[in-house]
Amino acid sequence: MTILSIETSCDETAVAITTKEAKNDLVKILSNVVASSLVLHSKTGGIIPDIAAREQLKFIVPVIKKTIKDAKVSIKDIDGIAVTVGPGLIGSLLIGIETAKTLAYIWKKPIIPVNHLLGHIYANFVQTNNYEPSTINFPALALIVSGGHTDLVLLKSHEAMAWLGGTLDDAAGEAFDKIGRLLNLPYPGGPSIEKASMQGIANRFIFPRPMIGSKDFNFSFSGLKAAVLREVLRLNHKLSNQQVSDISLAAQKSIIEVLVRKTIKAAKKYNAKSILLGGGVAANRKLKEEMRSQLSTLSPRGEAGNFQLHVPPAHLCTDNAAMIGAYALYNYKPASWKNITANPKLYFN
Ligand code: KG4
Ligand code: ZN
Repeated sequence: MTILSIETSCDETAVAITTKEAKNDLVKILSNVVASSLVLHSKTGGIIPDIAAREQLKFIVPVIKKTIKDAKVSIKDIDGIAVTVGPGLIGSLLIGIETAKTLAYIWKKPIIPVNHLLGHIYANFVQTNNYEPSTINFPALALIVSGGHTDLVLLKSHEAMAWLGGTLDDAAGEAFDKIGRLLNLPYPGGPSIEKASMQGIANRFIFPRPMIGSKDFNFSFSGLKAAVLREVLRLNHKLSNQQVSDISLAAQKSIIEVLVRKTIKAAKKYNAKSILLGGGVAANRKLKEEMRSQLSTLSPRGEAGNFQLHVPPAHLCTDNAAMIGAYALYNYKPASWKNITANPKLYFN
């Protein structure tokens, strides 16, 4: 089966053509194109929804054309059209959805609505030239860490999922972005903080690890942002490059420690066989390293289990349409176009 997928939930206009390989049950990318209006948003230090939507309009047709050309497929080879229906910015979502509906109508193809958050999980099932995930065994524990969400989800199978917990306030990516802004680093904060932290000296600043010991699987990152703000105010907004790096290192460490501790705790509790990371923050190398290192300290047998860690390559952690196609290939549930609407607040149900 071959799917053309469209993802326009935020500032990326992404279209992909993916297909599922019978031999290994993994998703293969035939083409994957992402156009981003990020440069425009870095000027304003955050995403302006109207600008994002206008840019989506500008990019959508050229990106579709390039995707089809790159994949070297003809329209008749495409079995269905998958599209992100939420969560996201209403103006941006609508452009992808209306385009998908129009194409489905003209080409007479089924249309599959996809939750963007589940797409982030399914980036783990995508095979690329440099990344062929080993078989993902269930139950799998997924940590979704994006700009707007931080969630732990248990996948018992492709059909059965359970939401275990999420953030009570800021998402991990949002914390990176807000702290980046406090430190005057370029938007988005995540990659900027990761880069600045490489020059950081450990333990010059210590920030809280919010909710690290709580019994549930929820998160909270707004207190961390407030703690960084207090330091910035204490230093009278006059931070040397070294202090920016030291704060970046300390803040990143706090976020990562909380994410790793809670993910491993959930994986143990639910006897997960695999741990899947997804979302823009999963592109962070330290997060991957720390997760891997903490998992390696666990006993391979017994209570700790033997978790297989899966992390998609960075370009599939951040927003893309291949992950939307992957979800649709495993969960092929076409809907009537009349029932497909943008749902900016879509969550897990
Ligand atoms: O998944 P994503 O591309 O878009 C959303 O669905 O939100 O995630 C974007 C988020 C931003 O908050 C960005 O700062 C963060 O992912 N991010 C990172 C890194 N790359 C992107 N955070 C930490 N380290 C990174 N290397
Ligand atoms: Zn995303």
